[in-house]
Amino acid sequence: MDTTHIASLRSLAKKRDVLIGAAANWRALRTDYAYREVLAQEFDLLTTENELKFGPLSPRPNAYDFGPAEELVDFAQANDMKIRGHTLLWHKMNPDWLTENNFTRHQALELLHKHIFTVMAYFRGEVYAWDVVNEPIHDNGGLRDSFWLHTIGPDYIEYAFRWANQADPNARLFINDYGTEDLGTKSDSLYNLVKDLLRRGTPINGVGLQMHLSIADSQDFVKPPTVQDLEENLRRFADLGLEIHITEMDVQIQNLSGSMEEQLERQARVYEDVLTVALRNPQLKAFVLWGFTDRYSWIPKATGRPDAPLPFDEYYQPKPAYEALYRALQAA
Ligand code: G3I
Repeated sequence: MDTTHIASLRSLAKKRDVLIGAAANWRALRTDYAYREVLAQEFDLLTTENELKFGPLSPRPNAYDFGPAEELVDFAQANDMKIRGHTLLWHKMNPDWLTENNFTRHQALELLHKHIFTVMAYFRGEVYAWDVVNEPIHDNGGLRDSFWLHTIGPDYIEYAFRWANQADPNARLFINDYGTEDLGTKSDSLYNLVKDLLRRGTPINGVGLQMHLSIADSQDFVKPPTVQDLEENLRRFADLGLEIHITEMDVQIQNLSGSMEEQLERQARVYEDVLTVALRNPQLKAFVLWGFTDRYSWIPKATGRPDAPLPFDEYYQPKPAYEALYRALQAA
């Protein structure tokens, strides 16, 4: 990647004591040299995109395949990158043997305990932060139905954090969700949930705000938060004593009017506004993209439409969004 930049995103972020990261695509890491080069050059934090989810880790009962996750961890360690483990509990990508059996509450608690201790013990001391519970809040503000909620009950969340803390006392433990970046029903629910967990002494260290944004109206994705709402929302989580990670940022430009140049400039402004506001909050510890090059973004497959949501294009050339992140870090 030939850029005219003196620094890299990671060197600028380091000066501000913030980690800047990207979700890593295991297949791309194995096959694409340019992918590896840019990932290591620009980022000092790596999130496992899929390889530490329950289904990929344990496709069969009592069996774990840590191979792919280990490759990501090895790459991160070889390039002086910290690791975000994503995610111990989620309503998606669970193995059929877990969700298609009628386990009792007691059996589900045993399975939860075994999973957390098996996975976290295996990477003990190597994973800087874990998304312990991912997307527990439904878009309507209630607790989202999942295998864990309907077999154990709402206290699955507290069990998960307490056991995760026992399994690796040095890992930072996060609750992670989307659509909770601005002020509204869903972020109020997340705020009240975490406040209650903390009141009960639950060992939770931080909140992950995914930041999957769409500039145009979208039925599945939120629009960029206003600077004011984002600032106020980050402040209230920080006031609980929580660390803040922006965990999965990407900015869709599909369905936008205007020239491609205009669309990329609008996208850049969103990246710059979000990072600028986030860097103002002393509790911001990490800013993570969901991927970094349009070549491997999950968005086109998920939406069925082409898009260019990330700061590098499919040929690893920095886009205006990269320049925007660079500027935000320089100015902080
Ligand atoms: O690995 C299999 C492969 O063997 C098989 O041939 C192929 C057939 O389609 O599927 C592959 O698994 C896919 C997996 O990604 C790995 O590529 C799954 O089908 C696919 O559903 C899965 O999508 C992931 C998605 O989470 C799962 O819901 C995306 O890559 C991943 O970017 C996305 O990430 C989530 C975060 O974990 C949580 N926040 C939202 C974010 C976007 O949905």
